[in-house]
Amino acid sequence: MLRVEGLSKEFRNARGRSAKMVQAVKNLSFQCKPGEIYGLLGPNGAGKTTTLRCLSTLIKPTSGNVFIDQYNVLEHGQIFRSKIGFLTSDMKLDGYFTPDYMMDWFGKLNKMQTSEIDERKEKLFVDLKMTDFIHKKIDQLSTGMKQKTAVAISLIHDPDVIIFDEPTNGLDIVTSKAVTDFLVSRAGAGKIVIISTHNMTIAEKLCHRFGILVEGELKEEGTLSDIIEGSSWDNLEDVFFSYILPGGDHV
Ligand SMILES: Nc1ncnc2c1ncn2[C@@H]1O[C@H](COP(=O)(O)OP(=O)(O)OP(=O)(O)O)[C@@H](O)[C@H]1O
Ligand SMILES: [Mg+2]
Repeated sequence: MLRVEGLSKEFRNARGRSAKMVQAVKNLSFQCKPGEIYGLLGPNGAGKTTTLRCLSTLIKPTSGNVFIDQYNVLEHGQIFRSKIGFLTSDMKLDGYFTPDYMMDWFGKLNKMQTSEIDERKEKLFVDLKMTDFIHKKIDQLSTGMKQKTAVAISLIHDPDVIIFDEPTNGLDIVTSKAVTDFLVSRAGAGKIVIISTHNMTIAEKLCHRFGILVEGELKEEGTLSDIIEGSSWDNLEDVFFSYILPGGDHV
């Protein structure tokens, strides 16, 4: 079980002599259980990436905490990192190396044995349909091929919690389907999957539960039926717009 409890993150943006505080995430709480895919939705600047970076130990919350079973992110950062696979659009892959080489390198960073790395590589390369390009230099790969490589690298250590920030961004529908099918299979194997996305169609198809984040605040939380229950909408996109479009019921 993953629990986010009262998570807040403030950034101090220095401007000249003054410092302006940005409250990127405000008192966020939600839970995900094994086998569940949780979708974090929200407009640009809503705080999705900041939340996912806090969950992944890349930045420290200003207040609040995150728990995976009995471990918490403030005290057990290293255990968290071993349990989490994080994919971000910022991931820079060195163009000189091949996917195969990068997987070996990240496997060793995760203190995996060579035989274990080989076994994981074989599975991930087949599942993600990567076998045609694993020995090409990353510089020579298309956007989708690079994204699949980033997905495979983030999962080399077979993490219990998969956190993907906009995993289908920039992908064609075939590659996007390969990635989302893969996430469904991982959830089916009992992993916790948390994604952020701007794509409501993918979110509705893929996610069991959702959080709608606006200006750092969680406005709605739950299954699709929890969210639309009692409202005049029957789909996620309309509920989403009601929070962000001028004149929307919740604006
Ligand atoms: N390192 C940082 N320093 C200062 N402010 C930051 C930093 N990272 C994010 N912010 C601010 O925090 C807020 C939330 O940003 P965040 O990247 O989490 O949004 P997002 O929901 O991921 O948006 P997008 O959909 O555009 O990716 C924004 O106001 C952003 O400018
Ligand atoms: Mg983001």
